[in-house]
Amino acid sequence: MPDEPLVLGIETSCDETGIGIVRGHTLLADALASSVEQHARFGGVVPEVASRAHLEALVPTMQRALDEAKVTLADIDAIAVTSGPGLAGALLVGVAAAKGYAVAADKPLYGVNHLAAHVAVDTLEHGPLPEPAIAMLVSGGHSSLLLVDDLTNGVKPLGATIDDAAGEAFDKVARLLGLGFPGGPIIDRTAGNGSASIAFPRGLTAAKDLAAHRFDFSFSGLKTAVARWVEARQRDGEPVPIADVSASFQEAVCDVLTAKAIDACLTHGVRTLVIGGGVAANSRLRVLAEERAAKHGIEVRVPRPQLCTDNGAMVAALGSRLVAAGVAPSRLDLPADSAMPLTSVSVAG
Ligand code: KG4
Ligand code: ZN
Repeated sequence: MPDEPLVLGIETSCDETGIGIVRGHTLLADALASSVEQHARFGGVVPEVASRAHLEALVPTMQRALDEAKVTLADIDAIAVTSGPGLAGALLVGVAAAKGYAVAADKPLYGVNHLAAHVAVDTLEHGPLPEPAIAMLVSGGHSSLLLVDDLTNGVKPLGATIDDAAGEAFDKVARLLGLGFPGGPIIDRTAGNGSASIAFPRGLTAAKDLAAHRFDFSFSGLKTAVARWVEARQRDGEPVPIADVSASFQEAVCDVLTAKAIDACLTHGVRTLVIGGGVAANSRLRVLAEERAAKHGIEVRVPRPQLCTDNGAMVAALGSRLVAAGVAPSRLDLPADSAMPLTSVSVAG
C-alpha cells in the first residue's frame, strides 16, 4: 500500500505560531512558538504584537517541525494553512508564508477553517471521527455547537455564544480575581483547591430562553455576577475565597456547556461528542462531559490538552482529511478571512 500523504499545517490565527506535520492520522511533528507572555501584561492578545511575533517565529518553527518529523519540504505532499477566522494581521503572516512555501516547493495549498481544524485534530488521537457527530468548540474566541455530517464538506452550526466566548469568560474572571493571563489554566488549577459552593447563574438555560436559544450560550451575565459577588465581599471587608469563586464559576460554565452539548446529541440522535478548543483542556469540563454522556451511551472524544489549544497539528490534520477526501486545493490567491464562516471548511479551488 502506498504511503498516505504527508501534510504540513501552518497556524497563526491568534498568539500561537504552530507548524504540524501528519501522515494520514499519524502526528509526526507539532512545533509551537507562543507570544502569550508578551500579551500577559495587557490581559489579552494584542493583535499587532501577535503578528510581529508570528513573523519572527515562523521560519524557525518550520525548521523545528521538519527536523522533528525528519523530513524536508520536498517530501511534503500538501500544505494547509489557517485562512480564518482569527486576527486579520496574524492570519496574514501564516497565509503569506504558506503561499511562499507552496510556490517555492510546488505543493498544493489548502486554506482551511480554524474551527473545523479544532474538530479534525481529534482524529490524530482517536482515529477517524464517527459521523454524524456533535462538535462543541470552546476557545478564547468561540463557543459553538456544530452538527458534523462530513467534516471535509461543511458543518452545520446549531448554536453559538451570543456574547462572551467561554475562554474569554475564563480570562475575564481570572483578571478580576487578579489571577493573571490566560485565565483558563489558572482558574482550572485554582478551582482544584476550592468547592463549587456559590450558586452563579447558568445563562440561557431558563425555560423562557430555550425556545430561541436552545443551543446558544451566554457568559457575560455570569462574569458580571462573579464581579458583583466579589465586590460585595470586598465592601463588607471580608476576604474573597478565590478558590471557591473559581470552582463555582468553572462549575457554572461546565454545567451549561455539557448540558447543551448532550441535549444537542440527543436531539439529533448522535452518539459521538467531540470537544475542541482551548477550554476543552479544562479538567472539570472533561469529567462532567464524560459523566453526563455515559448516562446516555454517548461517546465523548477530547484530544489531549496540548492538542486542544491552538497548534499546527490541527491544521495539518484537517488538510490530511481534505487530501484523503479528494477535495481540490485552494486557489493561490486565497484570502486571510478573519470572519471565515463555519459553513466553509476550506477555501475553494
Ligand atoms: O483555542 P485556543 O488556544 O485559542 C483560541 O482560538 O482562542 O483557546 C484559548 C482559550 C483561552 O481563553 C484560555 O483561557 C482557554 O482557552 N483555556 C482554558 C484552559 N486552557 C486554556 N479554559 C479553561 N480551562 C483550561 N484548562
Ligand atoms: Zn483556536
